[in-house]
Amino acid sequence: MQTEVQKIGERSLARAKELLLRGECVAFPTETVYGLGADARSDEAVERIYRVKGRPQDNPLIVHIHPGFDLGSLVYDEPYAQKLREAFLPGPLTLVYRSRGRVSAKVSCGLDTLAVRVPAHPEAQRFLRYVDIPVAAPSANRSKHVSPVSAQHVLDDLNGKIPLILDGGPCLGGIESTVCDITGPYPVILRAGLVTREMIAGVVGRCDEYIPQEGEKVRSPGMKYKHYAPSCETKLFAPADAAAALAEYRRAVQGGRRVRVLCEDAVAGMFPAEAVLDLGADGAAMAENLYRLLREAETCADLLIAIEPAGRGGVMTGVLNRLRKACAGE
Ligand code: TXA
Ligand code: MG
Repeated sequence: MQTEVQKIGERSLARAKELLLRGECVAFPTETVYGLGADARSDEAVERIYRVKGRPQDNPLIVHIHPGFDLGSLVYDEPYAQKLREAFLPGPLTLVYRSRGRVSAKVSCGLDTLAVRVPAHPEAQRFLRYVDIPVAAPSANRSKHVSPVSAQHVLDDLNGKIPLILDGGPCLGGIESTVCDITGPYPVILRAGLVTREMIAGVVGRCDEYIPQEGEKVRSPGMKYKHYAPSCETKLFAPADAAAALAEYRRAVQGGRRVRVLCEDAVAGMFPAEAVLDLGADGAAMAENLYRLLREAETCADLLIAIEPAGRGGVMTGVLNRLRKACAGE
C-alpha cells in the first residue's frame, strides 16, 4: 500500500472521509501527538487499528469528536463532568465515562466505559467536523515505540501500512492527553498529561492519581506496557547523579560508542554541546521536546544517557512518567 502525506484541505479531507467510511485508517494531527484514526462504530475498522500498530488487544482506545458532536449519544454524563469540560475542553484532557455502547465494543476492549477526547487543534477539529463520526484513535506509532509529533514520524513508523497521513505540522503539546476517570465520586487520573492533577483539583475540589495496587485488575490497561521507547540503548540517571552520568558518558565515548545526552537546560553545560539533546527549562518546553528528541536520539546514537529533570508536580508528572517508561527496558 502507498502511504500519502497531504496537507489538510478540501481534497484531502474528502479522501479521508471516504477512507474512514470504507473501514481504513487515517492519521491526523492533534495538539498532543498524531492519532491513527478509524471509524469507532465499525468492528472491522477498529480491529484494523490494532493490527496496523501491533497493539495488544486489551488496551482500549480513545474516541475523538468535534466540539459540536452529541456527546450524550455516546456516554452517560457524570455530575461534575460539566465543570471539567467547561474548564479544559476542547483540549488535552480525555474523560472516561460510562458508555452507552453505541460504538464498537472493541474500542473499549469490552469495558463498560468509554474514553472521549475533544482536541483543541484547529485542523483536528476541522477533520473531525468534516467526517462527523466518532473517530477511535491511539497515537499513530508502532506499538511501544515513541509517540509521533510530526507527520514524518508517522510515516517513519507506518509507511506502507495506512493509505493517508493528514499533515498538520508539528504537535506543540508534545505528550499525550491526560486520561481522567470520572465514573467515581471524584476524578482519578489514569495517565498524567498537560492538564494536571492540580488543575483538575482546582476546579472540582479533589483529584487523585491512580496507583495500581498489587494484584488488582488495572483500570487503564495501557499502563502495564512498555512504552515510548527509542530503538537505541538507554540509561537513566536521577537528577542528583549528573556527575555519574558524565562519567558514564566519557566511558562510552572512549569505548567508541555514539552517545547522546538527554537532559534539562540546567545541566546541559556539563556535556559537550554536540552530544546534548536539550529538553529545555520548563515543563511545557520539556513536554513539547521529549518525543522529538527521543526519536532524534535513535537516528544518531547507539546509547542515550538520560538525566531526569529535577522539577516535580504539574506537567512534570507526565513528562517524567514518559521518560521513565522510555528508559525502563523490557
Ligand atoms: O493525546 C492523546 O490522548 C492521543 C491523541 C491521538 O489523542 N491518543 C493517545 O491514545 O494517546 P493511546 O491509545 O496511545 O492511549 C490511550 C490511553 C491508554 O493508556 C488506554 O489504556 C487509556 O487511554 N484508555 C482508553 N480507553 C480507556 C477506558 N475506557 N478506560 C481506561 N483507560 C482507557
Ligand atoms: Mg500511545
